[in-house]
Amino acid sequence: MQRLHTGVPRHVAIIMDGNGRWATARHLPRMAGHNRGMESVRAVLETCGRRGIEYLTLFAFSSENWHRPADEVSTLMRLFVSALQREVVKLVENDVRLRVVGERNTLDPELRRLIAEAEERTAANTRLQLTLCVSYGGRWDIVQAARAAAREQGIEALDEASLERHLALAFAPEPDLLIRTGGEQRISNFLLWQCAYAELYFTHALWPDFSAAAFDEALAWYAQRERRFGRTSQQLAANS
Ligand code: IPE
Ligand code: IPE
Ligand code: MG
Repeated sequence: MQRLHTGVPRHVAIIMDGNGRWATARHLPRMAGHNRGMESVRAVLETCGRRGIEYLTLFAFSSENWHRPADEVSTLMRLFVSALQREVVKLVENDVRLRVVGERNTLDPELRRLIAEAEERTAANTRLQLTLCVSYGGRWDIVQAARAAAREQGIEALDEASLERHLALAFAPEPDLLIRTGGEQRISNFLLWQCAYAELYFTHALWPDFSAAAFDEALAWYAQRERRFGRTSQQLAANS
């Protein structure tokens, strides 16, 4: 799914990291950072609307995050529940379609019910495709897709295209830009398959501090990249 570089990414994926450190620096419980992070989600959503970005994928809770202390896990799950209860109306108003991807059977039935309801209520929306990755891991995604593809057509016929059709984000083009806040320079089991050719942007800003202006900076950086997909600069110039 390669395409010409137009300067504006069609698909932006974000590893929203640094909530805990933001709170700890203020002598607040880690949860205060997660709550505050919701404001950054709103700012990024608005910017996507303004800039014509079609797909936004947010890493909210990884397969590995289940290993955090039980009280942090349960308060995070409660935050997802209340965010869904509160925000879906705004998503409908703003023509945003919501999908939640990940290992759904690990989630609480009430959360699963709200997710299904939110997905249904926003299913006809087209302006922005918002995907939340919850209980998501890139390795889980590749394994479940490989299993489904093998079941469908047998292991011998399995190839890249048939596996891709079963990935959790099969409905979206590959991310053009992957942003990670919080200063770490790692993927932490996010979209392992889909980010093969994403431009990677790392910023020290902690997620609750990541403003619309910070997002615009990342987009300006992206616009300067030369995306070669294995080819040479001369080939790109000849084809443009
Ligand atoms: C990211 O912030 C949110 C989740 C992983 C749920 P963190 O909670 O990882 O914040 P830091 O990295 O500890 O600061
Ligand atoms: C990555 O952040 C996961 C999410 C943002 C949801 P982590 O804070 O879990 O990543 P590591 O453990 O520092 O790599
Ligand atoms: Mg972290």
